[in-house]
Amino acid sequence: MRVLITGGAGLVGSHCAEYFAAKNAQVIVLDNLMRSKLLKIPHKSIEHNWRFLKKIKNVKCIEGDVRRELDVTRAIGNGVDVVIHAAGQPSVFSSGDILQEDFDINAGGTVNVLECLRRKSKKAVFIYCSTDKIYGYDKEKKTKMGNKKKYTVNDDTQVKFSGLSAYAASKLTGDIYTQLFGHNFKLRTAVFRMGCIYGPRQFGVELQGWVGWFVQAHLMGKKLTLYGDGSQVRDILYVNDLVMAFESFINSRFDHRVYNIGGGSSNSLSLNDCLSILEQETRRKPKVRFTPCRQNDQKICIMDIKRVSRELRWKPRVTPQAGIRKVIKWVDDNKVFFNEEKI
Ligand SMILES: NC(=O)c1ccc[n+]([C@@H]2O[C@H](COP(=O)([O-])OP(=O)(O)OC[C@H]3O[C@@H](n4cnc5c(N)ncnc54)[C@H](O)[C@@H]3O)[C@@H](O)[C@H]2O)c1
Repeated sequence: MRVLITGGAGLVGSHCAEYFAAKNAQVIVLDNLMRSKLLKIPHKSIEHNWRFLKKIKNVKCIEGDVRRELDVTRAIGNGVDVVIHAAGQPSVFSSGDILQEDFDINAGGTVNVLECLRRKSKKAVFIYCSTDKIYGYDKEKKTKMGNKKKYTVNDDTQVKFSGLSAYAASKLTGDIYTQLFGHNFKLRTAVFRMGCIYGPRQFGVELQGWVGWFVQAHLMGKKLTLYGDGSQVRDILYVNDLVMAFESFINSRFDHRVYNIGGGSSNSLSLNDCLSILEQETRRKPKVRFTPCRQNDQKICIMDIKRVSRELRWKPRVTPQAGIRKVIKWVDDNKVFFNEEKI
């Protein structure tokens, strides 16, 4: 099996690459290593993942851009069986400042990959990494905590344009085009609308990848800024569990599907709960500073994962405590990347 993974140097992509390579697939990774530029973090971080992938025997790394037809067709080569499209501008909070670039990568890049596939490898399965953010939220509605069920987002939830970010709009465009290529051009497609994904190799920052960021900041003795009172609730999904869902779709009988995916209610926690786990695991209290809430920060968001669980016979296996423990271990083993003085 030949698997093309765009954004392969990122969190989701690198775990997909590692997993499918271990299953003897021929893996092609396409990434332009621009996460560090997009999030203003040291280039060394993304290079760490790139070097990690280069060491795996059946992974071929191609430095290229999903917006460029030539780069994508080169990566497809004589054809692929699967494309996992994980390349993207991933930050909600900076997307408004780089709106055009965000659109070009998330929307334009997706359409380009789909078009190249339609022309060169029509039989391939295409998996799109969408997001729970595409649903937006009702800014006017006051959220009363305590009734988690009420705020669970199911696969048929209507988009609320009042609480949409530029990131959500560009990702929704890619989401819609993926469905269009599935329905109109008979590509086999799956859209996974993902909640918070976390795991080793995340290189989180305050603006994106909050679980990774909390662990890194805590282990490096930095003060964490909490926007709001820390009672915001999210469901978190360990990255390998996500990869298992992708694999289940690839091996399924379905042609084109849209799934919400995340940790679901049983793996939901507040930011304060995450701090407690950190304290338990490291026996040290995280240093925290509280500031007012940010715009476009939902109070509570939990993905309803009934459809994906039922159809793909899938469920999250790694609990938040176990997953965060793995991230702590990885950050601890790689402290050199988080110590700014040394970069
Ligand atoms: N991590 C999450 O919690 C989460 C949640 C919902 C959706 N998503 C989506 O899933 C995808 C993967 O997320 P991630 O956490 O692995 O992000 P990531 O930032 O770790 O990885 C994205 C990768 O894409 C690469 N990239 C960016 N622009 C590119 C371009 N033009 N051409 C080629 N490569 C490019 C980056 O260099 C990076 O390696 C993203 O599209 C993101 O929007 C992530």
